Amino acid sequence: MSISPKVTPIYQTSVFTFEDLNALETYFQEPGKHYMYTRYGNPNSEELAQEINQLEHGQGAVVTSSGMSAILTAVLVYAKAGDHVLCAEEIYGGSSSLLSNELSRLGISVTYVPTADSYSLESYVQENTKLMLAETISNPMMMVMDLSRLAQVCLKNGLKLVVDNTFASPALTQPLQLGADLVIHSVTKYLSGHSDVTAGVVIAKAEADANRAAQIMRTWGLNLSPFESWLGARGLKTLKLRIREHSRNAQTIAEFLQQHPKVQAVFYPGLPEHPQHALAQTQGNGKCGGMLSFRIADDAEAVNQFMQALSHIPFAPSLAGVTTSISYPLGTSHRGLTKEQQENMGITVGLIRLSVGIEEVEELIADLEKGLAAI
Ligand SMILES: Cc1ncc(COP(=O)(O)O)c(C=O)c1O
Repeated sequence: MSISPKVTPIYQTSVFTFEDLNALETYFQEPGKHYMYTRYGNPNSEELAQEINQLEHGQGAVVTSSGMSAILTAVLVYAKAGDHVLCAEEIYGGSSSLLSNELSRLGISVTYVPTADSYSLESYVQENTKLMLAETISNPMMMVMDLSRLAQVCLKNGLKLVVDNTFASPALTQPLQLGADLVIHSVTKYLSGHSDVTAGVVIAKAEADANRAAQIMRTWGLNLSPFESWLGARGLKTLKLRIREHSRNAQTIAEFLQQHPKVQAVFYPGLPEHPQHALAQTQGNGKCGGMLSFRIADDAEAVNQFMQALSHIPFAPSLAGVTTSISYPLGTSHRGLTKEQQENMGITVGLIRLSVGIEEVEELIADLEKGLAAI
C-alpha cells in the first residue's frame, strides 16, 4: 500500500534518523535535500518558507519563531558590532525596542529617520551605516512608503534596504521587485491570517543573503516549530482571497467612518484624501489592505465607552485575522515611545486602530455604529 497525502503531514519530530555513516555524508553533500535536526530544517518549515519565497519573488527564505526574530535575523545578516543602521521613525514599537534597547547593547547603533526625510538619507548616513529598515505601510498611521524611490536612495548611499511587509502582505506589494534586499514579515499576521500562529519569515533577493539568514536562524535558535509551520502553510493558501475581502471591507468601513460626525479623522490609504493615495493604488496593485486607524475625541472615557458598546468586535492588540478586532496604539504597540514621539506620530488618546476582517461588512458597520452611538 502506498500512502500519498494531498497535504504535507506534520513532521512533529526534533530529529531525523540515518541508516549509517554513508547516509550522514549524503546529508552534508546534498544541502537542502535531507533533514537531520529540526532546528536546522524541517519539511514543514521548509514548505512554508518556499511558498512565501515564491509569493515575494525571492531567491531564498527562512521562517523564524516570530516576526521579532525575523527582524533580528535580517539586521544580523548585514550588521555586526561597530556598525550603524537607519530606521524609519514610523515603525512598529517592537522593532524600535529591539534596535534601541537590545542591539545597541551588542554594539549596533541606530538613527531614526524622520518621515519628512525618508528619501533624503545623506545627512544620516555614516561611514559604518549598513542598512535602512522601513515598513511598506506604517503602523498605526498607514503611511505608505514609496519603495522604488527608497531603494534608489539606499543604493546611492551604499545601504541595504530591509522592508517589513507585514501590513501590506505580498498580495499587495512585493518589495524585492521594487529594489529591496530583504523582506521580513510577522507571519503571525496576514500570511497565516487566523490569529492562531506566532511566526516570522525573512526573504532575500540574493541567495547568499538567504543562506546567511538560515545560518543565523540555526545558530541563534530562532527556528519555527513544525506545527506552527504547518498552520502557517495552511493559512497562506487563502492569502489572496482574504486580502481581497479585507481590502474591500476596509474601504467600505473607511468611507462609513469618514462621514460619521463622531469621527474626527480616518487614516486609510484607499481614501482619496490620504496623502499617498495614488502611490498606494499603484504599489498595492489596486488594493489597500485591511488596516485602518481613526480618531474620536481625545478622551479615554469616550474610548472606553466605544469599546464597551461593541458586541462583535473585540479589543485584541494584534491584527490581520479573519475576524475584525480593534487595538489601541497608545496603550499597546506604541506604549514604550516618549510622549513627544507619540505626539509627533499623531498617536493621541482618541486614536483607535481597526483590523478589518472578512465578515459581512453590514454587520461590522452596525457594530461600529453602536459603539460610536455610545460616546
Ligand atoms: C509591522 C510589524 N512587524 C513586526 C511585528 C512583530 O511580529 P511578532 O509579534 O510576530 O513577533 C509586528 C507585531 O505586531 C508588527 O506589527
